[in-house]
Amino acid sequence: MAHGYGKTALITGASAGIGRELARVFAERGYNLVLVARRAEALEQLAAELYDAWGTTVTVLPKDLSRPAAPQQIFDAVRDAGIHVDVLINNAGFGAFKGFTDTPLARVSGMVQLNVAALTAMCHLFAGPMIEAGEGRILNVASVAAFSPTPNAAVYGASKAYVLSLSEALSEELKPHNITVTALCPGLTETEFSQVATGKAGNPAVPDFMKLDARQVAQEAFDAVHAGEVVKINGLVYQLGVEWLRYTPRFMVRSIGGLYGKQLEDGF
Ligand SMILES: NC(=O)c1ccc[n+]([C@@H]2O[C@H](COP(=O)([O-])OP(=O)(O)OC[C@H]3O[C@@H](n4cnc5c(N)ncnc54)[C@H](OP(=O)(O)O)[C@@H]3O)[C@@H](O)[C@H]2O)c1
Repeated sequence: MAHGYGKTALITGASAGIGRELARVFAERGYNLVLVARRAEALEQLAAELYDAWGTTVTVLPKDLSRPAAPQQIFDAVRDAGIHVDVLINNAGFGAFKGFTDTPLARVSGMVQLNVAALTAMCHLFAGPMIEAGEGRILNVASVAAFSPTPNAAVYGASKAYVLSLSEALSEELKPHNITVTALCPGLTETEFSQVATGKAGNPAVPDFMKLDARQVAQEAFDAVHAGEVVKINGLVYQLGVEWLRYTPRFMVRSIGGLYGKQLEDGF
């Protein structure tokens, strides 16, 4: 039997990119869904697509997760609808690939609020009912940027290092409650991400072997979640890169980390 029958996954950032593909993969495997993002119309379209294809029950919750009250509002709406979330997927996030002081403070603060504070609040809120239920799964979308400081994308890299650290710690803490926590660490994936991060149209001009496909990333995420993997790095080139970083002096890691932001902004 497929994994999800009768179960519900809540996915943030489901209106585009990796989150939209995660919704498709979880629906195909029999999950009901709660979809969160700001663009209500895109969520409604996806809900209709998934209902037509798989008969998926989808609850659409348009919310701006960069507002501090949003996680509690989402939790309350889900509870009031009588929905138990079996799998929590914190995927919504964005980057800013520009110098630290060249990036407006409001954008920096919004990134920390979304990538760090909202994700933390969602884990805190939804872990409670999972503990009561005696099982649960959490997927937090980090990035390969989590493994090194990223000059010119400093706050983004720091936010993803936080997500990785939090996820690893929670995976230990919640293990006795039969709750798995997975940090997903994709490399450069073709979505709207780089356009949001750079403010430039189109995808960065990077070699094909560095580009990951959002559908593939979502499928690997699904498998990692159900295998209870704690850290999943997508793409062989990125797995090798992260392995190499482990044996590289920190001063080199710092300067190499800057390539990630630069690569997204300028391409090679
Ligand atoms: N693409 C990559 O190269 C890459 C690499 C590593 C990690 N990641 C991570 O993967 C995750 C998904 O990114 P993606 O590549 O799929 O980017 P994307 O195509 O830009 O999608 C981002 C999603 O997050 C939602 N979102 C953004 N701000 C939000 C807010 N304030 N409140 C609620 N939802 C919000 C967006 O929906 P709305 O605009 O409708 O709100 C959208 O659904 C992010 O955490 C990103 O950091 C991406």
